[in-house]
Amino acid sequence: MVEFALPKNSKVQPGKVWPKPDGKNLREFKVYRWNPEDGKNPQVDSYMLDMDNCGPMVLDALIKIKNEQDATLTFRRSCREGVCGSCAMNIDGTNSLACLKSCAEVKGPVRVYPLPHLAVVKDLVPDLTHFYAQHRSIEPWLKTTTAEPPAEWRQSHEDRAKLDGLYECILCACCSTSCPSYWWNGERYLGPAVLLQAYRWLIDSRDEATGERLDNLEDPFRLYRCHTIMNCTKACPKGLNPAKAIAEIKKMMVERRV
Ligand code: SF4
Ligand code: SF4
Ligand code: FES
Repeated sequence: MVEFALPKNSKVQPGKVWPKPDGKNLREFKVYRWNPEDGKNPQVDSYMLDMDNCGPMVLDALIKIKNEQDATLTFRRSCREGVCGSCAMNIDGTNSLACLKSCAEVKGPVRVYPLPHLAVVKDLVPDLTHFYAQHRSIEPWLKTTTAEPPAEWRQSHEDRAKLDGLYECILCACCSTSCPSYWWNGERYLGPAVLLQAYRWLIDSRDEATGERLDNLEDPFRLYRCHTIMNCTKACPKGLNPAKAIAEIKKMMVERRV
């Protein structure tokens, strides 16, 4: 049988145990740390927080650690209300938004890691360069050929309703990084987030590039690596259904052939 061994410098080591603060309601946070500049392996540091003096969400805890214990802890965040998508990380084994994940939902120590199967920039910050390039490749903007209307491009209420469940996507990448097909073929498979976005433009009644968009997806890797495993839909913190959007694109592919 083939045996795989991780390269030495990829093994996660036990890290520093930070001093406990005072307080009666202490909770442990085990946080992945990696600094590309110190040449060391990744490690998991242990921080204790008094939850009587901390906001309820995992993001509140990370901000408190950064402000009061360890200013070097690095993570992305902006809106702190599930809108910007920047605080996506793996919490307690599940991809989530740190600002929407309550510490109370987690049993035992709160384990916080970067989104899986992406290169790490530092600590909890994944490298999303390729993900964004894939998003750009589906040309996520309105494409038209007819002359521009004097005001806005109009749309019926029914056609507008077709974008519900799609326009809410905040491109957090929780779904793509929980998709096994994307883990193994991420270089070529677009993944659930980008395909949901692709579908959002395919069914926009104002868009006039549907054929061109479908041509762009008609490829054994870009679209057809989805095997309906459904991890993506389970992971989406906005309650969206990327697996369904992918199925709809496949249906459009079939329909245009008949
Ligand atoms: S349904 Fe498709 S996109 Fe979603 S996790 Fe499964 S393989 Fe990935
Ligand atoms: S579909 Fe959901 S999980 Fe995927 S990028 Fe959009 S908001 Fe995030
Ligand atoms: S900080 Fe914006 S989604 Fe969490």
